[in-house]
Amino acid sequence: MNNKFVIAIDGPAASGKSTTAKQLAIKLKYIYIDTGAMYRASGLCTLLQNISLDDEAALKEMLDKISIRIEYEEDGNKIFLNEEDVTERIREADITKLSSQIAVIGMVRKKMVELQRKIGENGGVIMDGRDIGTVVFPNADFKFFMIADVKTRALRRWEETKEKGESITLEEIEEELIWRDKNDTTREISPLRQADDAIPVDTSKMSINEQVQFIYNKIK
Ligand code: CDP
Repeated sequence: MNNKFVIAIDGPAASGKSTTAKQLAIKLKYIYIDTGAMYRASGLCTLLQNISLDDEAALKEMLDKISIRIEYEEDGNKIFLNEEDVTERIREADITKLSSQIAVIGMVRKKMVELQRKIGENGGVIMDGRDIGTVVFPNADFKFFMIADVKTRALRRWEETKEKGESITLEEIEEELIWRDKNDTTREISPLRQADDAIPVDTSKMSINEQVQFIYNKIK
């Protein structure tokens, strides 16, 4: 597609955002940016540097120096934190929880939003997250809000963890999703919510192909 649109996809965890965004990016020849990975990388950074989330001075110093780089590849982006490849590490359960905890902090969000706006300033980008249509790109050309019932989302995540050989129960995953949904929707700064002009997409009963095609058709 020649037009360099900004496409925002928001929604709760495991609602199908990243799978859809990745495939859509290939179809449209756009860059895909997973902003959740940036919060995950920031969380990991505090762990590696032994920084407590309530130590404002240390957090500020960390954010002043942090480098988060996304290398775009068709078969999956690679995420570098301070030039170290953390693509796999940031998907582990401890970082999942930490990412949602660090995402409530104003100075962290300010830094991430700055980086995200810079990456997306020339368009031709699909960005997924929680606040892309509401805060990062309120004037995005297209906004989608993906949802799915919690059982479906838990099952999807569980299947992913099984593929990776992790041993976590379906119940544990569901609990984690419910905790994260609550934390993400009730935080004071940039809570997860549907932008007024976003198109809702309920993926509970949709296949991946249907999700991708639905959004593709809207854009076409
Ligand atoms: O992939 P999954 O849906 O599990 O989560 P993610 O997109 O990797 O996001 C991890 C966490 O980062 C979320 O639970 C949010 O707390 C936070 N996040 C955010 O606050 N704002 C964004 N734009 C993206 C993620």
